[in-house]
Amino acid sequence: MKRLNEGIALATKKGDNGTRALLEEILTSEEEHIDYLEAQLHQIKELGFANYLAQQIED
Ligand SMILES: [Fe+2]
Repeated sequence: MKRLNEGIALATKKGDNGTRALLEEILTSEEEHIDYLEAQLHQIKELGFANYLAQQIED
């Protein structure tokens, strides 16, 4: 996230709007991955690992 944000800032500074748009797209996608993974970690913490795994098999 840090590197993508730095890249966006640099592209903006250089007036490279194509690169900025590309990096913003990647950043948005990565934010979704992070949200997903944080949700999984929260569930593991709440349910315990065995129950979490059992739930994965059900889905
Ligand atoms: Fe990712």
